[in-house]
Amino acid sequence: MSELILIVDDEKFLCRQLEKALSQEGYSVISASTGKEGTEIAKKESPAVILLDLKLPDADGLEILQIISTLEPHPTTIIMTAHGNIEVAVSAIKIGAYDFIEKPFHVDKLKVIIRNAISAIELRRNLNTATSREQEKYGFNSLIGKSEAIKEIIYLFQKLADTDPKTILITGESGTGKGLAARILHYNGVRAEKPLIELNCAAIPETLLESELFGYEPGAFTDAKKMKKGIFELADGGTIFLDEIGDMGLGLQAKLIKVIEERTFRKIGGTRDIKVDIRVIAATNHDLKELASKNLFREDLYHRLNVINVKMPPLKERKEDVPLLTDYFVTYFNSEAHRDITYIPEELREAFLNYHWPGNIRELRNTIERAVLLSEGKQINPRHAQLEETTGTEIKLEKSEGRMILEIPLDDASLTKIEEKIIREALDLNDWNQKKTAEMLGITREVLRYRMKKMGLLD
Ligand SMILES: Nc1ncnc2c1ncn2[C@@H]1O[C@H](COP(=O)(O)OP(=O)(O)OP(=O)(O)O)[C@@H](O)[C@H]1O
Ligand SMILES: [Mg+2]
Repeated sequence: MSELILIVDDEKFLCRQLEKALSQEGYSVISASTGKEGTEIAKKESPAVILLDLKLPDADGLEILQIISTLEPHPTTIIMTAHGNIEVAVSAIKIGAYDFIEKPFHVDKLKVIIRNAISAIELRRNLNTATSREQEKYGFNSLIGKSEAIKEIIYLFQKLADTDPKTILITGESGTGKGLAARILHYNGVRAEKPLIELNCAAIPETLLESELFGYEPGAFTDAKKMKKGIFELADGGTIFLDEIGDMGLGLQAKLIKVIEERTFRKIGGTRDIKVDIRVIAATNHDLKELASKNLFREDLYHRLNVINVKMPPLKERKEDVPLLTDYFVTYFNSEAHRDITYIPEELREAFLNYHWPGNIRELRNTIERAVLLSEGKQINPRHAQLEETTGTEIKLEKSEGRMILEIPLDDASLTKIEEKIIREALDLNDWNQKKTAEMLGITREVLRYRMKKMGLLD
């Protein structure tokens, strides 16, 4: 599609010349010789770019610019001004003009300005479509479930949507949908058009986390060559999602308190406070209150965050959602993987209902993804939908509130099996980092590696 450019200028000769030059560049061009004609065309044709002369026979160019600036979609205006009239051009930029060019000018110079203007338009269009796509993807109905717990959460989200709460804490076990909830809150709130910036506090080292959050001034430390904006500044007007906040170090928590209380912060090496308008959504699968009682999380930060607490319920407490979620994920992966699964055997549905889903919805999603990919034909083959522990003779492990709970069958209390279970879980908890896992289990890394080898987890 060729972009439409409108020229508003009473100099007929200049109009003809520009029409010719710009059509050769592949643009569609229309001209108007008065302000009135120009605004009418602008309203009717929605040109992408308007080249506006500031001195028109029937109107002042700045007035026309005011009118044009209120149109939707918003055209990009380039002012053409007589030599020596820079002050007016500057006022025009303040009103919302994109750029200006002094007459007489070389057409090539104008072409460059137009090209830049159009790239900016394209960028904006892409951003807009990205947000509307996200808005569609994260509508209230993307939180699947008909249980009371889910209905209540959706009801709460709908209420929060237009009240713009500044701080929200989302808690719940791993895989219960905390990340999804954060996105739904953002994309359905008044900040939807503004950025949502996510930061996983557990995934990056403390020192890096500080510069990610606050940014730095050049020279703040040896590697800081240029100024860097932190995510508090980048997210201005929007939402910052601090995932796994329970894993944030105590030093940084102290600094976070100030931002949450005052919405101001200082760059590393900076000398002035920067004020921002942000919503903070924090999520964690830890019990922050319990962490606070052990001095692992700041009590005051916990109270600051805990203004509105959204609790994502574990799947085992809302089994009535299992069939609905199962069907939803089957449909989803059918379309993702170009499969055509239409039947889920009754015994499998039964097994799904009886299972305790320690990994919650993520586990259900992954189980179905695997089953859809591996099953041939139109039905899910239960062989490909194995659940971790379905028989009563297995050791069961559950995590809750910072504890591991082991359920060991009396007829098979094999120490090796129990040990294996714990080692696997500890590895999972530490993202398979051997050093951290060994520390957690109070053994040396060599002993851990020896046991992993015995379990067939290492060559
Ligand atoms: N109610 C739901 N309806 C549909 N999909 C869901 C629902 N809840 C969670 N999911 C999906 O399950 C997966 C896991 O959810 P999510 O990543 O939000 O969990 P989480 O609580 O953030 O987990 P973690 O603590 O491990 O980060 C995602 O793919 C998410 O889209
Ligand atoms: Mg998450």
